[in-house]
Amino acid sequence: HGFDPFRLPTAVAVAEGTAQAELLLQRHCKDHGRMPARIAMVLWGTDNLKTEGGPIAQVLALVGARPRFDGFGRLAGAELIELHELGRARVDVVVTLSGIFRDLLPLQTRLLAESSLLAATADEPVELNPIRGHALRYCREHGCDMEEAALRVFSNAEGAYGSNVNMLIDSGAWNGDDEIAETFASRKCFAYGVDGKALPRKELMGSVLREVEAAYQNVESAELGLTSIDHYFDTLGGISKAVQQFGGHTIPVYVGDRTTGDGKVRSLSEQVALETRTRMLNPRFYEALLDHGYEGVRQIESHVTNTLGWSATTGQVAPWVYKNITDTFML
Ligand code: BEZ
Ligand code: MG
Repeated sequence: HGFDPFRLPTAVAVAEGTAQAELLLQRHCKDHGRMPARIAMVLWGTDNLKTEGGPIAQVLALVGARPRFDGFGRLAGAELIELHELGRARVDVVVTLSGIFRDLLPLQTRLLAESSLLAATADEPVELNPIRGHALRYCREHGCDMEEAALRVFSNAEGAYGSNVNMLIDSGAWNGDDEIAETFASRKCFAYGVDGKALPRKELMGSVLREVEAAYQNVESAELGLTSIDHYFDTLGGISKAVQQFGGHTIPVYVGDRTTGDGKVRSLSEQVALETRTRMLNPRFYEALLDHGYEGVRQIESHVTNTLGWSATTGQVAPWVYKNITDTFML
């Protein structure tokens, strides 16, 4: 995928991202009867390369911002969409970037940081701007400045990748929910500000996560699903568990899919059910894998472990999934 980092997110990505952000808000309203004030969103690097920055544009749309380009068409920063034009409250988006995103897209990392700083410092009523509401409160409680309180882009320390939650699950080495949340938070608590520098800010991340109302990530193809690799539950599952531990409440987990038609938003349970039916319980899928001997079996085992990863991090996998897997592969 060739791309020019100065042109991301493109106009197409902004249009698509705005539409997908609306689908997410509609789905949350349908399920919970109200707009979310704060969402945790996971961004990966490769997804943004393949979509010209689609998920980045979704974050901006939720916040109520857009990319700003200079006279040569080069990315120069973020700008806010006025509230009257936006037509709804801004959403406070806590972003966790994969290490790959952080490495590949430094301009866009700063763009995202600038969008939350602009929102936090906008002269707007806090009822319509929860980013400002939280940042003002955090400043009062901690005696810090707005640059600090508006930090919303979190990733690993420079040179580090992943939350290690996948390793905890794969090795069966965790004893409780707090251990999963703590592992995630220790790895992902590095805040990236408008200057692009990483600062360890675990306390701030905990404070922001406490009031998160939903977690969200996009899938970018039908080729790899949430149960095909262990990175999805490492990032999206990990943050869901962190919110549960810091905030004391379970949150809905949503998956965005713009691979076909006008796009969809599924709940995590719906996404896992869909993948289980089409892959793990589909004889055309598993018989073909079994034709490959031990490597095929290794792939099947990996799907089961990844499904368990979703149970461990969110508790939102339906019991029939395990019953039918047991019937098919063991009994
Ligand atoms: C990424 O592109 O950011 C990514 C790809 C695979 C696993 C995790 C992250
Ligand atoms: Mg394994």
